[in-house]
Amino acid sequence: MTEKILTKVDAGQGGAAEAARAEVLRRRFPTIEDLRRRARRRVPRFAFDFIDGSANDEECARRNTTALSAVELLPRYCLDIKGLSTEVELFGRRYAAPFGVAPMGSGGLMWPGGEEYLAREAQRRNIPFILATPANVSIERVAQIAPDVFWFQLYRFAANDHAVTFDLLRRADAAGAQVLVPTIDSAGKSKRPRDIRSGVTVPFVLSPSIVYQVATSPAWAWALYRNGMLRSENVVPYTSGPATRDSTAKVIMQVRSSGSHTWDELARLRDRWKRAFVVKGVLHPEDAERLVSLGADGLIVSNHGGRHFDGAPAAIDILPAIVAAVGSRATVMVDSGIRGGLDIVRALALGAKATFAGRPFLYGVGALGEEGARHVVDIYFDELRTEFQHVGARSVAEAATVTARHPGAWRF
Ligand SMILES: Cc1cc2nc3c(=O)[nH]c(=O)nc-3n(C[C@H](O)[C@H](O)[C@H](O)COP(=O)(O)O)c2cc1C
Repeated sequence: MTEKILTKVDAGQGGAAEAARAEVLRRRFPTIEDLRRRARRRVPRFAFDFIDGSANDEECARRNTTALSAVELLPRYCLDIKGLSTEVELFGRRYAAPFGVAPMGSGGLMWPGGEEYLAREAQRRNIPFILATPANVSIERVAQIAPDVFWFQLYRFAANDHAVTFDLLRRADAAGAQVLVPTIDSAGKSKRPRDIRSGVTVPFVLSPSIVYQVATSPAWAWALYRNGMLRSENVVPYTSGPATRDSTAKVIMQVRSSGSHTWDELARLRDRWKRAFVVKGVLHPEDAERLVSLGADGLIVSNHGGRHFDGAPAAIDILPAIVAAVGSRATVMVDSGIRGGLDIVRALALGAKATFAGRPFLYGVGALGEEGARHVVDIYFDELRTEFQHVGARSVAEAATVTARHPGAWRF
């Protein structure tokens, strides 16, 4: 079925020429790391570092990838794997694969307009796209571009009895978002040394160094010119005075200072939202239990890609404990460090129903603009199918039965 979808897409979008170009990109940029390296050369350093960087010493971000590589899978051979399908059902809808685009605020910094490219590609390939509250593209716009695969990530704005939070929820509902994703792991400000060194501040100060970096990144500067000012589009209605980069950034700053959604607030959000409710940033099995009791349909086990708390465990290492706690009652998913098809299969083998990746999708658009969105999705699809074959799985359900050795798994 997945094969059919891809063939249809290829044929419908310019046929042979496009397929030939995809082949060239497969040879030139075979891995996510190739895209990262090219993005690093094309994007102004302050912008690249904002996306690529993590909290404190960036140990947690490194731990995510090393912990994933440490998971070994025992392949099964001599099986007939005809009819292989990567499809997965999440909250009553079938998607083409168990991976999607994680929510990322200010994603336009990596490539102005890049978030729209990713949303469009997600719709075309039928994979979930989670729009972040602080994104540079609005709820209403994404609902137009990606109506079938659009999930909305919600942050907490405590002022006026959460008026902004509830209005965002209302807009996501009116726009038809399939899933609401409140994030709970943004408990306070985080220290990101790369941003401090670059001078990325609110209000934004155009230092001589930043001007130089933009001037020496002409393709990025052109994309910025064409896209227009980068601002947090979702909070435009809540600024005082004109909605500029700085005034929208000030609204977003309230998130960092107001802590994470409390249990009471989550219960209110659950009550108000009638479709699927998925809480992101879960790391403790007891929190997972409580969230499911409160009515969460799903959880995303995540440490925010290491961007907030450098002392957090690798998300993959905590995944089995959360699956053991709530896996029979809720859809457990995972992100943080997923860098290819093999990581997706590892996560499925350890009990995740689906996975998300963040930075890799932005490396794609940073490296190659619009066609980078397609290429990064190609990498995940190609690798996923290959790894399914290696472990002898014909489906997501069969991948879940693969035997794994997981040295870093937390035990309680
Ligand atoms: C630039 C950037 C911005 C992010 N912004 C948000 C956000 O606004 N809301 C959120 O829930 N997660 C946010 N995240 C975290 C991602 O959703 C995801 O958890 C993380 O990127 C996964 O790790 P990975 O980048 O290693 O794949 C952000 C991540 C990045 C890289």
